[in-house]
Amino acid sequence: MTDLLTMKGSALAIVLAAGEGTRMRSRKPKVLHQVAGLSMLGHALRAVAAAGVDRVAVVVGPGHDAVAAEARRLAPHADVFVQEERLGTAHAALAARPAIAAGVDQALVLYADTPFVSPDTLRRMRAGVAAGAAVVGVGFEAADPTGYGRFIMADGRLTAIREHRDATEAERAITLCNGGLMGFDGRRMLAILDRIGDTNDQKQFYLTDAAEIAHAQGLRVSAIVCDEEEVLGVNDRVQLAGAEAIMQARLRERVMREGATLIAPETVFLSFDTTIGRDVLIEPHVVMGSGVTIADDAVIHAFSHLEGAHVESGVSVGPYARLRPGATLRANSRVGNFVEIKNAELGAGAKANHLAYIGDARVGAKANIGAGAITCNYDGVNKHRTDIGEGAFVGTNSSLVAPVTIGAGAYVASGSVITRDVPDDALAIGRGRQELREGWAAQKRREQAGKKKDH
Ligand code: UD1
Ligand code: CA
Repeated sequence: MTDLLTMKGSALAIVLAAGEGTRMRSRKPKVLHQVAGLSMLGHALRAVAAAGVDRVAVVVGPGHDAVAAEARRLAPHADVFVQEERLGTAHAALAARPAIAAGVDQALVLYADTPFVSPDTLRRMRAGVAAGAAVVGVGFEAADPTGYGRFIMADGRLTAIREHRDATEAERAITLCNGGLMGFDGRRMLAILDRIGDTNDQKQFYLTDAAEIAHAQGLRVSAIVCDEEEVLGVNDRVQLAGAEAIMQARLRERVMREGATLIAPETVFLSFDTTIGRDVLIEPHVVMGSGVTIADDAVIHAFSHLEGAHVESGVSVGPYARLRPGATLRANSRVGNFVEIKNAELGAGAKANHLAYIGDARVGAKANIGAGAITCNYDGVNKHRTDIGEGAFVGTNSSLVAPVTIGAGAYVASGSVITRDVPDDALAIGRGRQELREGWAAQKRREQAGKKKDH
């Protein structure tokens, strides 16, 4: 690990997000496709932030307003530049010329379609520049180098990066390949990039030519090496699924190392921001969307789906529960099978054990929500709130028509439709009265038997 405290100088990240992504066969720009609940662009921006890089430039393709919007949502201070024509990676980096010209010590170029870049690698690139390199390349030992640029090394220095299509047979035998990330001395970067030409097989301006140009000028060009997985790029949906699998494996490992038990980790799906405490038990087949936090000693039973939910300590969820955004389950509350909770707080020790919908509501501590109870929160136009007091008892199959308040300690009889507020400690019954007709069924059967036709 490179110590951030010893990192001197200002840093700028230039994130290239101008890819066409045609192989995704999508109306959506490639870098907006998600891995573990966050866009690939978002993963790149998170790594940049974690590496202490405070200035960010995102280069987007023409018409890619959605990419610009995602960049601004995740990094409000980012400058967005448009690369009007796709003339190569150096041309793309130069779209951010004003950000470079503003003056910066270390400039790091990264691609928005490589979601595994680690903050540590970005820090090592910064350190390489801080130690005097004009250019820092990031290489990896490729299992199959076909298609990648090759690192041409001499005396431990990077002297050139040769694109596969421009490489000789001998150069193609090299397995140390270019991961794509490049670090620059920010004060020298423009002078180097402006010398890059397009005299190659693709007639494009290659960022990789910076290595050879700087080396020829007698400047120091260094190489660092990272794992192949870190620079794994996503070009189609098969690779997207591959990236998802790697990311899920990492997330599962992280929560297990932090003290959660996953009985069948390969069946549990987490998000980039899932936070799980100690001694949490997660049964098989659980899916977590983004924004989920689970505190110590909670149990998430099988087949539950959580998203934007906060689960406090000792809570039991599921099996077959659904927690939607804004669900907050206070300590030791219980949510059982086929219960849906949305934008609602369930107080400490409260229970909704079977078949209920609690939306736009507050449920007081130790209240009991019976099977089949529903908050009728939506009138077709607006949403309304339901407030259920501490220790209240909502009988089975009740409909609470919001806005409505059930007082603390109040009792709602089973099958009630509650349209008016219920005071503390009161009983509310809102259902048709039961009628009884003695002998009616037996009489009916006798009549039917007399009319029965032979077939
Ligand atoms: C690039 C590197 C290669 C490296 C490989 C690693 C160059 C010339 N080559 O090759 O050495 O081994 O990545 O994956 O840099 N982009 C733009 N605008 C452009 C062109 C590209 O924004 O005009 C973006 C793309 O969206 C992509 C990235 O830059 O995210 C890389 O471009 P791509 O054409 O995929 O380069 P490769 O041929 O893969
Ligand atoms: Ca590529």
